[in-house]
Amino acid sequence: MADENVLEFANVSKTYNIISDPLLSQGRQAVLDNVSLTLRRGEIYGFVGLNGAGKTTTIKIAMGLVRPDTGTVKMLGKALNSDDLRRIGFAPEKPAFYDFLSAEETMKYSARLLGYSADKTRIAEVLETLNLHNDMDKLVREYSKGMQQRLALAAAMLHDPELYILDEPSSGLDPVGRRHVKDLLRNLRSKGKTVFFSTHILSDVRELCDRVGIIHNGKMLFEGTLKDLNPKGEDLEDAFIKMTAVLPTETTTSAPKERELTQQ
Ligand SMILES: Nc1ncnc2c1ncn2[C@@H]1O[C@H](COP(=O)(O)OP(=O)(O)OP(=O)(O)O)[C@@H](O)[C@H]1O
Ligand SMILES: [Mg+2]
Repeated sequence: MADENVLEFANVSKTYNIISDPLLSQGRQAVLDNVSLTLRRGEIYGFVGLNGAGKTTTIKIAMGLVRPDTGTVKMLGKALNSDDLRRIGFAPEKPAFYDFLSAEETMKYSARLLGYSADKTRIAEVLETLNLHNDMDKLVREYSKGMQQRLALAAAMLHDPELYILDEPSSGLDPVGRRHVKDLLRNLRSKGKTVFFSTHILSDVRELCDRVGIIHNGKMLFEGTLKDLNPKGEDLEDAFIKMTAVLPTETTTSAPKERELTQQ
């Protein structure tokens, strides 16, 4: 079913305690406010927003790492459960590895955590897609930041999941690495996989995404196709900056409708 939803957020809200002085409770900060979004099977969905907009929090909720205060999340058609996590390839914003393991050992360990075993051939095959196969014996502590970022993507791919949730997969990558990631995401889509990724790189959004979600101050400003987002085909950065300037930071009360936004 081409239009089947694989991830659905319905009116999800999340607050965190504001604790700048540990002895004083200073109330709660709304981090996500009534977020609804839908990821459809087989698409690449770009999740865009300024620093602190709520992208990583949304992804953590999708992965069951953070619990929402209110609202519902459905993953692959039902409430998230630990078995579903095996059907997801997740690469976090700040991947953390054991320094004393090699890349190959890191991959084996990642597979084992998900209840799989991965042989050397499979590991080499996946590392090759991220151009890391010549460094598979190297210790992770000898990996550069960009290599670690790519290793996190490789670990997410190892079990050939149907859904990928990637938090800024291209951050810290050089132009060749970014090209690799773009090719990889296209390739995953061509195999029928679904990809949800957060990013600040609007050119990647333009080149890759079937649909886009824009989050601002914890509220969804927009969800739709690039054409809906940018009907006049203007510079995407201009369109994005205009859209996020619509709502001043402190006075945000409700998300304007799509049509109002696209006509700004
Ligand atoms: N564990 C936490 N406790 C308190 N506040 C938090 C916590 N995690 C995130 N926040 C706050 O939630 C808001 C959203 O953070 P989040 O990490 O989701 O943003 P983001 O869109 O991923 O930003 P970036 O582009 O910088 O990665 C920020 O104001 C942040 O300070
Ligand atoms: Mg983030």
